[in-house]
Amino acid sequence: MTSPMKFRSEVMFMIMAIFVLLANMSTCRAKLSSKYYKRSCPNGANAIRKSITQAISRERRMAASLVRLHFHDCFVQGCDASVLLDEDATPTSERNAKQNKDSLRGFEVVDAAKAEVEKICPGVVSCADILALAARDSSVVVGGPSWKVKLGRRDSTTANITLAESDLPLFSSTLDELIANFDKKGLNQRDLVALSGSHTIGKAQCLTFRGRIYSNDSSIIDASFARALQRTCPNNNDVGSTNLASLDLVTPNTFDNFYFHDLIQKKGLLTSDQVLFNGGSTDRIVVKYTQNPSKFNSDFGKAMIKMGDIEPLLGKNGIIRRVCSSLN
Ligand code: HEM
Ligand SMILES: *[C@@H]1O[C@H](CO)[C@@H](O)[C@H](O)[C@H]1NC(C)=O
Ligand SMILES: *[C@@H]1O[C@H](CO)[C@@H](O)[C@H](O)[C@H]1NC(C)=O
Repeated sequence: MTSPMKFRSEVMFMIMAIFVLLANMSTCRAKLSSKYYKRSCPNGANAIRKSITQAISRERRMAASLVRLHFHDCFVQGCDASVLLDEDATPTSERNAKQNKDSLRGFEVVDAAKAEVEKICPGVVSCADILALAARDSSVVVGGPSWKVKLGRRDSTTANITLAESDLPLFSSTLDELIANFDKKGLNQRDLVALSGSHTIGKAQCLTFRGRIYSNDSSIIDASFARALQRTCPNNNDVGSTNLASLDLVTPNTFDNFYFHDLIQKKGLLTSDQVLFNGGSTDRIVVKYTQNPSKFNSDFGKAMIKMGDIEPLLGKNGIIRRVCSSLN
């Protein structure tokens, strides 16, 4: 027989245990997980992959544009799809930031992917997660590495153009500026070099490399490379500013390590590319990636996961947008 005394203390203990449990549940910090939609939308990632793959088969450059969208999302108030909100949604739309305007692409591809998941699990998968998945899928389609995408980000209700202009790096940045810029987001020099390796695909407009090819630039440039580019990019701010050149001149449509070979040959397209190999602290990482492509691939995947971890909105924070460019 349990004594009444003992019984009472057992009941007290149980009540206390329940309180502790409840307290834990309410403070339970939600976190990103690759299995986040396992129950709520098991086929979501597949639907997104199909949609993204289709878009890239229509236009191969789209892979590059989608990788860049995720980057420009994560560097501004975290990976919260703030980059997708248009002017109708908010006057502080990041799309108008100088680093984004008339430059970022792929919004309609993200909208199409979102429409596909909305068909199968409405109101469940966030736009921020779609950007993270699209970046990984894009890498895979053009021959780059794969990685396990963590999920569970929620979408912002705000965008911040001021923050976009201050936190997104510039094509004219020095190495010290790039290092500081990435450090502010918790990314180190190896992450900076690995992530810049996504310039192995995609294109840039003349206005972003004009200063460099006409040599008003302290970083080194190969003379014949500069001359070749001068044919597509005139030394006149009023002519040809939107003409395109490949960021990796050797294999512009394939994700590989030739971008790093370009840098060693002084054939980086942007100043912000060439400063990664211009006598500074990142030179040895660039050299390493030319020698060891699989090391580049694995570092790239790790750095993308790290970038995807920047300040996500979790739990009850933020919303799940139904249309990625607008607020519900
Ligand atoms: C290190 C600092 C970086 C700077 C200064 C920079 C700057 C730029 C610029 C100026 C362009 C060309 C835009 C245009 O002409 O319209 C570009 C394109 C691109 N960037 Fe970066 N970028 C940086 C890092 C990154 C990172 C970390 C990623 C991805 C993880 C990335 C992915 C891309 C891609 C894929 C393109 C080609 C986009 C397309 O063809 O649509 N960049 N970047
Ligand atoms: C944007 O971010 C800056 C810097 O954090 C902050 O001072 C400003 O209030 C924000 N603006 C908006 C519209 O949220
Ligand atoms: C570079 O500098 C030269 C000489 O100072 C100048 O004539 C030229 O317009 C500059 N080019 C660019 C693209 O700024």
